[in-house]
Amino acid sequence: MRKKTIRDVDVKGKRVLVRVDFNVPLADGKVADDRRIRAALPTIQYLLDHGAAVILMSHLGRPKGKVVPELRMDPVAERLSQLLGQPVRKLDDCIGPEVEAAVRAMKPGDVILLENTRFHPEERKNDPEFARKLASLADLFVNDAFGTAHRAHASTVGVARYLPAVAGFLMERELRFLGQALESPERPFVALLGGAKISDKIGVIRNLLSKVDALLIGGGMANTFFKAQGYKVGDSLVEDEAIDTAKGLLDEAGDKLILPVDVVIADKVAPDAAVKTIKVGDVPAGWRILDIGPETVEFFKGKLQGARTVVWNGPMGVFEVEPFAKGTFAIAEALAELEGATVIVGGGDSAAAVEKAGVADRITHVSTGGGASLEFLEGKELPGVAALEDL
Ligand code: 3PG
Repeated sequence: MRKKTIRDVDVKGKRVLVRVDFNVPLADGKVADDRRIRAALPTIQYLLDHGAAVILMSHLGRPKGKVVPELRMDPVAERLSQLLGQPVRKLDDCIGPEVEAAVRAMKPGDVILLENTRFHPEERKNDPEFARKLASLADLFVNDAFGTAHRAHASTVGVARYLPAVAGFLMERELRFLGQALESPERPFVALLGGAKISDKIGVIRNLLSKVDALLIGGGMANTFFKAQGYKVGDSLVEDEAIDTAKGLLDEAGDKLILPVDVVIADKVAPDAAVKTIKVGDVPAGWRILDIGPETVEFFKGKLQGARTVVWNGPMGVFEVEPFAKGTFAIAEALAELEGATVIVGGGDSAAAVEKAGVADRITHVSTGGGASLEFLEGKELPGVAALEDL
């Protein structure tokens, strides 16, 4: 599992091809959330400080193998340049004669950002020839794109066949925190799962149940468990096809699996909805569960007290809509206040929630991976990690 990192290789005078995950949200042609760019800075800065020329590559969005002008990397280069405090030259392709010429002219300390790798259909197919062309630009491959490590693409896996391949600091950090939680957690180890659907997280629930001391479930996925227990859930989102699975999980887990005791219900998902808090069990028709209630917040806080390792993935309610954000934010706040615990927040939505709650800097590790951290927590081997050299 332990992988070589940039600390284990000599980078001086080398051209280093770095896969980053700069798949960031854009708004009005600007980067709307630069967390993933900031998270890659330690690796980039280390390489520059140690005499390398840095060639960065990433995908952005899902352009389906065509050039989509709104998904060019220019806004990312602009933001990166501001954060690094030095020019970042953005090229209009990621392979080809112009790219080769620009790379040949690089000096130690220079930074180039290649164009969106997914403008080429060969990227997602992990085409060996495309990977070879990318690799031919450099002497060393560094993968710092934990967020894309679950994709076996040319820029994450293919290039590693042609170059020495090591992890960057972000990749190392993600693997250390998430890996330690799964392999040798300090106990008690409590996991908190939310989000809309059970079906997305069955693998995670099963894998975590075999490792945690308690698994707290909130968010839309709790509804399917409620229905499996025979409770009335009104018009709440329920996955009927997952009810048998939910019953099986409840049987297997015994009292390790902990569900909400009260819920916030509303007649619609809107800021002006009629809203009530009720005990679990009797949601009237026309109403739906959209958040955990205050008693549940206290109950969950009690379960978190004294925990030494906590993993949180998935919001407790529809936190994007104000009346249903309280449960998620209260949990974010509670995690930030836990003393003596390693708290790991994974997943796009829960990472966004801790940012929105203003507590991200008081969480031990907020993962940059959405799908990647879920697959990791499921216990799957990530192809982008497997491709790197073992220590
Ligand atoms: C992500 O945002 O989860 C990664 O960048 C992967 O993107 P993808 O789901 O489009 O492969």
